[in-house]
Amino acid sequence: MSSGASVAAAFAATLKTLGRLDAIHNNAAISGPARPLHETSEQAWEQLFAVNVKSIYHTTQAGIEALKATRGCILNTASMVGTIGQENHAAYVATKGAVISLTKAMALDYAHFHVRVNGISPAAVWTPLLRQWVQEQPNPEDTEDFLNHIHALGYCPEGDVVADVAVFLLSERARFITGVTLPVSGGAELGYRRLP
Ligand SMILES: NC(=O)c1ccc[n+]([C@@H]2O[C@H](COP(=O)([O-])OP(=O)(O)OC[C@H]3O[C@@H](n4cnc5c(N)ncnc54)[C@H](O)[C@@H]3O)[C@@H](O)[C@H]2O)c1
Repeated sequence: MSSGASVAAAFAATLKTLGRLDAIHNNAAISGPARPLHETSEQAWEQLFAVNVKSIYHTTQAGIEALKATRGCILNTASMVGTIGQENHAAYVATKGAVISLTKAMALDYAHFHVRVNGISPAAVWTPLLRQWVQEQPNPEDTEDFLNHIHALGYCPEGDVVADVAVFLLSERARFITGVTLPVSGGAELGYRRLP
């Protein structure tokens, strides 16, 4: 995803095999390193932006003409931290803020072609990325409790909650929604809450 040539080749192969393109879901990302900005190396910063943000540039370059032809849509996986911030993850947070802004700009540019562009902001979701992050924390058990508690609904979900919303945003049911980054966050971003 961080190589324009690789992305272009993947799109060419997909179009050759399937003949059309209905949607692009920009979902791949990396999250490390867990550091404040002044401790983030230039290489880590560039790697995060290459995988999390510039990849959207590559897929759009490679796929927009095919999407115009089908009046297809684009879905970007952002993160709630791109809106509300997160301690110790400055570069990752910045990439997700960029994804949210890009979603709005792309939605405006491609609306003329009836190509919708939306985003999804999970808070935390049990995936290999999160499991690895938990293991890297000083106290993984406490971290699991923390992850349950950050969601107002009281638990950290599996990926199906995100997949269901992705299917909705990519479907005709969302035909009049564009430029929106939908929280799929169990209310993690809502107001002050008491400790359990
Ligand atoms: N898991 C969470 O708690 C959480 C929370 C908020 C947002 N997100 C976002 O959800 C999306 C999916 O994350 P996930 O939790 O499933 O992570 P994950 O690490 O489990 O999966 C990410 C996928 O991206 C792929 N990938 C990474 N770098 C790549 C590259 N350069 N080229 C091609 N593929 C590459 C990996 O191979 C992997 O399949 C990401 O955008 C992430 O930022 C996740």
